[in-house]
Amino acid sequence: MKLYEISEAKGIESLQLTERPTPRPGPGEVLVRVRATSLNYRDLALCKGGLARMVKLPMIPVSDGAGDVVETGPGVMRLKTGDRVAAIFTQGWLSGPPYQGMYQSSLGGGIDGMLAEYVVLREDGFVKIPDYMTYEEAATLPCAAVTSWNALVVEGRIKPGDTVLTMGTGGVSIFALQFARMYGARVIATSSSDAKLKRLREMGAAHVINYKSKPDWDKAVLELTGGQGVDHVVEIGGAGTLPKSMNAVKAGGIVHLIGILAGAGQIDPMGLLFKQARIQGILVGSREMFEAMNRAMAANDVHPVIDRVFPFSEAREAYRYLESGAHFGKVCIAV
Ligand SMILES: NC(=O)c1ccc[n+]([C@@H]2O[C@H](COP(=O)([O-])OP(=O)(O)OC[C@H]3O[C@@H](n4cnc5c(N)ncnc54)[C@H](OP(=O)(O)O)[C@@H]3O)[C@@H](O)[C@H]2O)c1
Repeated sequence: MKLYEISEAKGIESLQLTERPTPRPGPGEVLVRVRATSLNYRDLALCKGGLARMVKLPMIPVSDGAGDVVETGPGVMRLKTGDRVAAIFTQGWLSGPPYQGMYQSSLGGGIDGMLAEYVVLREDGFVKIPDYMTYEEAATLPCAAVTSWNALVVEGRIKPGDTVLTMGTGGVSIFALQFARMYGARVIATSSSDAKLKRLREMGAAHVINYKSKPDWDKAVLELTGGQGVDHVVEIGGAGTLPKSMNAVKAGGIVHLIGILAGAGQIDPMGLLFKQARIQGILVGSREMFEAMNRAMAANDVHPVIDRVFPFSEAREAYRYLESGAHFGKVCIAV
């Protein structure tokens, strides 16, 4: 089978197209023909040497993928040949609360990922994908969508009428906008691009802010909320944006700490103390969350937003496109 491998994490050029024998499923395992994968910022970071302590090289990159079960090993009971499935990001986190060390079973990180024609994983490590979704759509879900779901719905207990601040127009933020709208929340969305802000409005954002031309976007959020702030901040910038997110959050609200795109910064915790607000770390989510999210998306006919689908032979171009930041939503690779 064909696959991409990273043996030295020195950038996008490290992605090498190669071949290995097609694996066979052992007891409790299934063989899946991968039909589509999607990229996350993490995949880009890992091929550049990010999170190096957690990754064993050589490895097959990319956490997110969907396909068909083509063979089952002895004792498999949850899945059968022909099932359409997506792999779960953290193979060991099926349900319940997070646990120490769970990252070791993350696809395309602690263990081999999905950028291959075939994968063998434990049957427990998959969810069935909704009938109405294409393979590309389903391949966008395991990391970005489950993360936003965990933040807003599981930890955040979002309610109709809540206000949600989303940052930028990458995978996590667009799913957050879709889930917030699904729950009847009001969304304030930011982007560095006016053209993308227009699309955010079309998707139901009540207010939009250009965080480049308005670097005081936290003050704009306070103005838009009558000085109150928002119930939820979907924080994808990390230390570089956290002080402003802490300013923009409401008393008793939650900053969902998800990403690291904005680099370093100084954090003064006092504002949070006086607001009795909290910062909640989020690391994707469990299979149980993924399944609940799929049911909710199906009931509301929510389709993931895919910017572009690249052919398998152009995986490096897909990485470069993600790196450019030109995308809106998800970037996929058909397999
Ligand atoms: N904790 C977890 O479980 C988890 C899961 C998934 C992702 N993440 C992290 O979340 C972050 C986003 O991931 P992703 O896959 O959604 O990324 P992505 O699709 O590559 O999104 C990139 C977009 O983020 C926006 N952005 C960049 N810098 C920004 C800033 N300073 N302020 C506001 N927006 C900014 C830009 O949007 P515009 O072009 O509109 O400006 C950019 O296009 C990454 O740090 C990733 O590692 C964490």
